Amino acid sequence: MSYLELEHLTRHFVRREGWPIPRKTLIRAVDRVSLRIEQGEILGLVGESGCGKSTLSRLIMQLLAPTSGSVILEGQRLADLPPTEIRKRRRDFQMIFQDPYASLNPRMTVYSTLAEAILTRRPELRRNRAALESAVAVLMARVGLDARYIRKYPHEFSGGQRQRIAIARALGPEPKLILADEPVSALDVSIQSQILNLLLELRNELGLTMIFISHDLSVVRYIADRIAVMDEGKIVETGEADALFTAPESEVTRALLRAIPKIRHRAAAS
Ligand SMILES: Nc1ncnc2c1ncn2[C@@H]1O[C@H](COP(=O)(O)OP(=O)(O)OP(=O)(O)O)[C@@H](O)[C@H]1O
Ligand SMILES: [Mg+2]
Repeated sequence: MSYLELEHLTRHFVRREGWPIPRKTLIRAVDRVSLRIEQGEILGLVGESGCGKSTLSRLIMQLLAPTSGSVILEGQRLADLPPTEIRKRRRDFQMIFQDPYASLNPRMTVYSTLAEAILTRRPELRRNRAALESAVAVLMARVGLDARYIRKYPHEFSGGQRQRIAIARALGPEPKLILADEPVSALDVSIQSQILNLLLELRNELGLTMIFISHDLSVVRYIADRIAVMDEGKIVETGEADALFTAPESEVTRALLRAIPKIRHRAAAS
């Protein structure tokens, strides 16, 4: 049994365009996507802007209802569960976004942000300030942040450090699945590899399952075990990361390969 299975998952949007007579157009943002993700696996999801990656992640996160199809978690169809049970399961899924500055609350210190995340799983710590503070320090150490910065605010950190805070916040509720949507796209190349290495370490140490979304195939190759290529709402190719690079089957994959900057090609080959 796979940890997570998507079965013909579909989401349509209706857009009204044109004036004075609006026309309705149907957008198949996610179109009959079927995928299996094994426990502890990093699945890379790659595709051009607008192909439906974020919509697919919102469907998995239960932030958006599917038009049809199912999300099956450990053999159980999520749509069949009562809402309270879905809320409980949702804690096992956490997200990391492209822009940590936008996703972190600027008025909250690292301590408040991380304490809040930890309390969702361990509410009993609310009455034990010392234990909560040490849990925050453990979380900071896990993502490579110095506990001296515990009272600082997001704007006092660099972009890479802010993404570490966002990763620590995602780990707070002790998730099983991390959904990372373009988590390094806003970072300098040198910082990107540090964050990718951190995510790999966390997968190895905590046995996390990950879905890693990017438009950049070279980034996905670095981190993913298996890659799914998406185009116009559909999965057009899946394969082991290396195989997909050496023998791409679809034209979409070949186009994504061509889009990788030459300098990165050389770095990957050396
Ligand atoms: N709430 C919505 N209402 C209408 N259309 C939407 C909505 N959300 C997404 N779409 C459309 O669905 C398609 C897929 O969008 P989505 O954001 O999932 O793509 P993406 O692959 O994440 O793109 P990017 O790489 O730019 O983040 C796009 O055509 C988008 O305009
Ligand atoms: Mg997106």
